[in-house]
Amino acid sequence: MKNFFKYPLHENAFSTSDIKEGIRVLLSKQITMSKKTKEFEKYFAKKLGVKYALMVNSGSSANLLATFASGNPLRKNKFKPGDEAIIPVLCWPTSLWPLVQAGLKPIFVDVDINTLNIDLNDMKKKITKKTKLIMNINVLGLSTNLNRLKEISKKKNLILIEDNCESLGSKLNNKHLGTFGDFGTFSFYYSHQITSGEGGMVTCNNEKDYEILYSLRAHGWSRSPKTFKKTSKKYPKLDPRFIFTNMGFNLRPTDIQASIGLNQLKKINYFIKQRTLNRNLIIKKLENSKNWKNQYNFLKVEPNFKPSWFSLVLMINNKYVHKKKRFINFLSKKGIETRPIISGNFMNQPAAKLYKLNPNKEKFPNADKIEKTAFFIGLKTKKISNDELEYLVKNLLKISVL
Ligand SMILES: Cc1ncc(COP(=O)(O)O)c(C=O)c1O
Repeated sequence: MKNFFKYPLHENAFSTSDIKEGIRVLLSKQITMSKKTKEFEKYFAKKLGVKYALMVNSGSSANLLATFASGNPLRKNKFKPGDEAIIPVLCWPTSLWPLVQAGLKPIFVDVDINTLNIDLNDMKKKITKKTKLIMNINVLGLSTNLNRLKEISKKKNLILIEDNCESLGSKLNNKHLGTFGDFGTFSFYYSHQITSGEGGMVTCNNEKDYEILYSLRAHGWSRSPKTFKKTSKKYPKLDPRFIFTNMGFNLRPTDIQASIGLNQLKKINYFIKQRTLNRNLIIKKLENSKNWKNQYNFLKVEPNFKPSWFSLVLMINNKYVHKKKRFINFLSKKGIETRPIISGNFMNQPAAKLYKLNPNKEKFPNADKIEKTAFFIGLKTKKISNDELEYLVKNLLKISVL
């Protein structure tokens, strides 16, 4: 695919070996979910240090599946329609909509301006007797204090879903993000830490939860190796291959996606290293330039945190913020691709108004500030060339003179 940007958000996502893996699956003619998906799931679970991983066709599907599993009748600790679910207001639409689709009432929480992640103090104030679930989002490679979040959710008996679609590979105290809650969700969309074109994963540590996820992923079928035998015995009058024990979706991936995802996951440590290196090079070059006038602030990382960067977040200095819109257009004309931080304060989106998600017009000043002042650019998985670096930095600095 031709990329029209000189400095795109992501490029060269697929190596020749990724493509070969995909073609091998195509040539085998076993394209639908099968052995390769199993192999990827097993490798993923082992790499992240969780018991179970289940692949789906996108990160959005992973959120849908984890949410519906959390309210499933087969689960002991489950939500019921009308219960409240906490979510940071700086969110992605498909972190939020599964909550609404499952009959939960979303309660929005502001974010911490320094990490872009959920503000735990604001969150604590919003927990009521009706709260049953937290959909937390680990934003662009960073997280909140997940140990504290886990402690709060345990104490209040809340189900914790970690939407880790933007932070695969990041670690807090050497523990992978996405493995702190009851469920972790992941996306392998094109611009993410690894990609299978489209694809996602749900992780968990509880066997019952895994069985629910397995069934809901494909039509409510009872086809996991363990339940297949059990249900065949229990319902001898039914065809054992077609027993439906739960509600269901079809969120299955293909083996083509799984084979590419697996090949990419094997290279993730290299990707993380390259992205970190490029991020450091860009920041250093900006700050050492003779034209550096503190145009930007950058995200800072706690010593016990090891980020797997999604992107380079640039938070514009107050002095230059009024030029943001003009400047983003300028960068686009220069072939530098940018994105807002997730979808900004989601309460500003027409879809939130359509569904009356903020009836009391509550304010979220930090999310608003991030929407107003920040944007991000991509980080390559190969070392940025000197020419690219010069070009990028020269143009980024121009916000002060535009
Ligand atoms: C936080 C978050 N959750 C979920 C998703 C959805 O992932 P996908 O695009 O694979 O459906 C995204 C997408 O980028 C995201 O940023």
